[in-house]
Amino acid sequence: MNYTIPAIAPSILAADFTKLGEEIKACLEGDAEWIHCDIMDGHFVPNISYGPDLVAAARKSAPDAFMDVHLMIENPDIYIESFADAGADLISVHYEACPHLHRNLQNIRGFGCMTGVAINPATAVGVIEPILGDVDLVLVMSVNPGFGGQSFIESSIGKIEKLKRLKDEHGFNYLIEVDGGVGLKNIRSIVRAGADILVAGSSVFRADDISARVRELRKEAQLGHKDFA
Ligand code: DX5
Ligand code: ZN
Repeated sequence: MNYTIPAIAPSILAADFTKLGEEIKACLEGDAEWIHCDIMDGHFVPNISYGPDLVAAARKSAPDAFMDVHLMIENPDIYIESFADAGADLISVHYEACPHLHRNLQNIRGFGCMTGVAINPATAVGVIEPILGDVDLVLVMSVNPGFGGQSFIESSIGKIEKLKRLKDEHGFNYLIEVDGGVGLKNIRSIVRAGADILVAGSSVFRADDISARVRELRKEAQLGHKDFA
């Protein structure tokens, strides 16, 4: 699984489902290497999105993409296998939905997927410190989960910076993913704060030219990455 950092992960929740394959291909033409799939159960979040079958359809349209599956569901353990079978490369579960998070992550790894833990805007980074050495990705929700098209919650920047500090201090390898309200105006500062993977739904799929928008987001993100150097 090779991809360049920072990476743009278009969230297909915002895509036109009547032409999902075409729009995914447009993202890939814009050099997107990740596809972000938002799974919502109507319990953990007040919305229902789609399930493993749509992830499998997305996988068909993007056989070489890194399939990033974000489970906003209760009892995720029940569904890990079906999302792994559908083609997930990485599965993220929410800290707030997993009283036995360490075991959930073992379960995800057991099905051959990389592991991610997501934290909501009101959840402090400190609560997941015990497992930071075990995960491949930390997903910082920069909107309240459940819907695309919301505004970026500015306090997320402090959480990204803290995760970056912990990563540097302890030599952890997790990727820092930021999810919600990411667009051309803020992506550079989000990357400058330490983000590696930038989820973008409405910013990508509401654009007139999807490929061009992905390229623009990538360019802005790379400028943010250069700010480190
Ligand atoms: C929200 C999802 C996000 C969302 C991003 O619960 O986790 O991935 O689809 O959409 P935008 O980029 O429009 O905020
Ligand atoms: Zn998401």
